[in-house]
Amino acid sequence: MANPNLNNQTEGLTSADKEFENNIRPKEINEFSGQQQIIDNLIIFIRAAKLRGEALDHVLFHGPPGLGKTTLSRIVANELGVNIKETSGPVIEKPGDLAGLLTSLGPKDVLFIDEIHRLSTVVEEYLYSAMEDYRIDIMIDSGPSARSIQINLSPFTLIGATTRSGLLTAPLLSRFAIKSRLEYYDAQTLQKIILRSADILKASISSEAAGEIARRSRGTPRIANGLLRRVRDFAQVLNDNQIDLGITQHSLKALNVDSHGLDEMDNRILSAIIEKFKGGPVGITTIATAVSEEPGTLEEVYEPFLIQEGFIKRTPRGREVTDKAYQHLGKTPPTLGATGTLFSM
Ligand SMILES: Nc1ncnc2c1ncn2[C@@H]1O[C@H](COP(=O)(O)OP(=O)(O)OP(=O)(O)O)[C@@H](O)[C@H]1O
Ligand SMILES: [Mg+2]
Repeated sequence: MANPNLNNQTEGLTSADKEFENNIRPKEINEFSGQQQIIDNLIIFIRAAKLRGEALDHVLFHGPPGLGKTTLSRIVANELGVNIKETSGPVIEKPGDLAGLLTSLGPKDVLFIDEIHRLSTVVEEYLYSAMEDYRIDIMIDSGPSARSIQINLSPFTLIGATTRSGLLTAPLLSRFAIKSRLEYYDAQTLQKIILRSADILKASISSEAAGEIARRSRGTPRIANGLLRRVRDFAQVLNDNQIDLGITQHSLKALNVDSHGLDEMDNRILSAIIEKFKGGPVGITTIATAVSEEPGTLEEVYEPFLIQEGFIKRTPRGREVTDKAYQHLGKTPPTLGATGTLFSM
């Protein structure tokens, strides 16, 4: 039932995957499809900053993996016409590392910190004054000769990205004037993204075939592009290099791709609620224990898609699966009693 080889965390990607991602990654704002409200607002903020000759305010992109946070960050720097320096939370080990990065930025440049929820507390505290006043106070020496020196920075834009905004502290969150949550893509937008990627790959694909891949990509461009690459292999060997609906359906079946694009964890969550908790309601922490995952990851990474697609409902007493979840797993939903309540309750 799972999407094999389609690990949607960046850390799970091989270097070939990353090279492929970079090749098809939109570089200009008009090549980026979907997330319309975020794009419209960014265009205004970027124009305003440029008209005033100022650095853009700090931006936070948050949302599930593979929806375009890194892509958008690079596009913002590109639109601003400035350089971008990229790093990630766990890589900045000491305040000195942060100071090195910040002092290497030119005026109005972008510092991109991926996985910003993984910054250490001490580094994060140094970031506060850098973001707010464009300055950092660094301690030099230790013991009696310890003193702090103040380094003034050029105005810059910090762009942070995270899949786990729930782990960010309030002081850090409040320093991002622009916060954008990326949402899952609808099938129509994904279809457009797939057609664009196929064009870059010089692959011949029908619009129905692109639509079929789109519906089975968990609302996620990274998964859509990954599936396109696999389907292209099948078409190359079995279908004279033509990606049509038939070869697409054949390939997705051979790859065991779920009919709704759900991944292995999605299906484990639904099965657990049905089999261990009679369909719910059940608390998120209890579900998390049942599937050996962190409650926060369930809540921020998996659950939003399952709710959006109508497999799970949030109720005051916890999460409940819907009839759609039973049908999806080939199980029969419990019947309703005369009062409309479940017999089992
Ligand atoms: N709106 C879009 N239009 C076209 N392609 C997109 C779009 N969003 C994402 N992609 C493609 O999907 C892939 C993943 O996007 P990206 O790396 O920006 O995701 P992310 O949100 O940073 O993921 P992660 O949380 O894992 O870091 C990229 O190869 C990019 O080309
Ligand atoms: Mg990223």
